[in-house]
Amino acid sequence: MIKMVVLISGRGSNLTSLLNAATSGAIPARIVGVISNRPDAMGLQTAETHGVPTCVIDHRGFAEREQFDVAVAAAIDGFTPDLVVLAGFMRILGQAFVRRYENRLINIHPSLLPAFPGLHTHRRALAEGVRIHGCTVHFVTPDLDHGPVIVQAAVPVLDDDDEATLAARVLVQEHQVYPLAVRWFAEGRLHLRNGRVWLDMPQADGMALIAPQSVAG
Ligand code: GRF
Repeated sequence: MIKMVVLISGRGSNLTSLLNAATSGAIPARIVGVISNRPDAMGLQTAETHGVPTCVIDHRGFAEREQFDVAVAAAIDGFTPDLVVLAGFMRILGQAFVRRYENRLINIHPSLLPAFPGLHTHRRALAEGVRIHGCTVHFVTPDLDHGPVIVQAAVPVLDDDDEATLAARVLVQEHQVYPLAVRWFAEGRLHLRNGRVWLDMPQADGMALIAPQSVAG
């Protein structure tokens, strides 16, 4: 059973999917703390409902970004986690922070990276007219929305989609793949080799997944 800390900034629907997976025993992981940079993040209430300790580190209280990073790292380290999970955490973390948690810091991004890093991914996907969109779980590197891909899920873009309908379709997949990625990490199945992720599992489970190639299979 691994221990993980989840960092959020808002709604916390991915946090909910991880909490549900952890409490139901679907993933061999326990969420030992939730940290938010916003005191009004809805996800804080969800964590408290589940009896998970929370911590708010308001970025507005720090003149320098590095000081904020140091405070967040101190809070994380207080929980002694094996894995740090970014779930809608809307602050950019500096290089020293990312290096500190190298290979045990993961993020979910609402696009098929490397397409559409940054904000407003669904709006930009619609503007580009792409026919396939989705989400990506990846290890975090110092470059924004970049790093070895653990798992992706693809969804179609429909002719009558707007930003909200497309976001909702992708979010359903986010709630599938993030617990899956955490499970693989917790089970020790993810291996980083030459900047790529390899999964030691003959077949990845899940419908729309474009999973990393298997080492064992
Ligand atoms: C998700 O779309 C996630 O991919 C992105 O921010 C959003 C967070 O949503 N990084 P929630 O707070 O988990 O509901």
